[in-house]
Amino acid sequence: MGKILITGGTGFIGSHACIAFINAGYQVVLMDNLSNSKVEAAARIEMITGKHVRFYRTDMRDVEGMRQIFLNNKIDAVIHFAGLKAVGESVEKPLEYYENNIGGTIKLLEVMAEFQCNTMVLSSSATVYGCDNPVPYLEDMPISATNPYGYTKVMIEQILRDVCTANSSFRAVVLRYFNPIGAHESGLIGENPKGIPNNLVPYVAQVAVGKLKQLSVFGNDYDTPDGTGVRDYIHVMDLANGHVAALDYAMQHTGFEPINLGTGKGSSVLEVVHAYEKACRKQIPLQIVERRAGDIATSYADPTKAKELLGWEAVSNLEEMCADSWRFTLQNPNGI
Ligand code: NAD
Ligand code: UD1
Repeated sequence: MGKILITGGTGFIGSHACIAFINAGYQVVLMDNLSNSKVEAAARIEMITGKHVRFYRTDMRDVEGMRQIFLNNKIDAVIHFAGLKAVGESVEKPLEYYENNIGGTIKLLEVMAEFQCNTMVLSSSATVYGCDNPVPYLEDMPISATNPYGYTKVMIEQILRDVCTANSSFRAVVLRYFNPIGAHESGLIGENPKGIPNNLVPYVAQVAVGKLKQLSVFGNDYDTPDGTGVRDYIHVMDLANGHVAALDYAMQHTGFEPINLGTGKGSSVLEVVHAYEKACRKQIPLQIVERRAGDIATSYADPTKAKELLGWEAVSNLEEMCADSWRFTLQNPNGI
């Protein structure tokens, strides 16, 4: 097993992926600028795995800092999570998003080239399916975006596609995540949003723990079974294990490969609320409000390609995801 660099390694998905890679026998090196996470996450990963984790507080745009990581460690592959991810904020600060996510990825790729590291597994998003494709989403559908965050993912995918064309030794597996939720079963790490959460499950968790009063359900007049939005929620540990399978695949195949990581099953906002109520044994107060701008009715994956190419599929159901989210929230009401 080789040595891998996990960028954004103290973040929500990166920290869970780190555990999956350590459990699979990889040596991992974490880097993060801590703009949206805490260094304590690295200590928690050590508690969970019993393994020492090397952590660098570095910004991916800092080329000298990145060179030091590659000089001190023989990195075989990069699992690239680092980036800014808040849709609303990206509309207000587009240059910051383009500069950090795209500019940072270009610098990272340049340093990788300098050290002949030719393998990347990238965090992309189902957001690249835009609003015109029919569900379920398939990897060969045209991609687009409706906001600057989404465009950073579309552009980074294109950059990797072009890098693979230019360098026939390069391998890029681009993972399009659907809606990752839940937490590691230990309750030690989980999602740690700053301020008031934008996403559904972190918001419901804060209502359940008494930090927020009630959930606003953004519309109940969509063309869905109960009128509320339908999404493909996936347990973050299933997602993490998908990265291990993706790296195994990348080690054996050159070129650019986009792959959905979803369950293939959609759940409505009200179904999520009911599953969460079961987990926390409380009622979640809610009100129906206007639709949120930019939302679509339904999004879910066709997960066939991941099963065929990676031999991976998600195993956790919505109740397990909510139970794990609730355990983390109860143990860490103010986050990590
Ligand atoms: P997160 O914010 O918890 O993790 C991202 C990490 O990147 C943070 O710890 C942040 O401090 C770090 N970071 C940001 N800019 C950096 C920089 N310039 N240098 C070094 N570190 C930097 O988010 P997450 O939910 O773990 O998401 C990980 C990746 O997955 C992101 O690229 C995100 O866009 C993508 N993604 C997330 C979701 C989701 O719902 N969470 C869905 C689809 C795709
Ligand atoms: C959001 C982002 C998307 C990103 C994804 C994963 C927007 C417009 N889209 O998508 O780009 O890839 O997160 O990070 O922000 N909901 C409520 N009340 C709430 C919060 C959400 O009713 O307080 C509903 C939404 O309308 C939606 C569902 O819950 O139907 C899920 O919302 P969310 O968790 O924000 O994920 P996405 O909308 O899929």
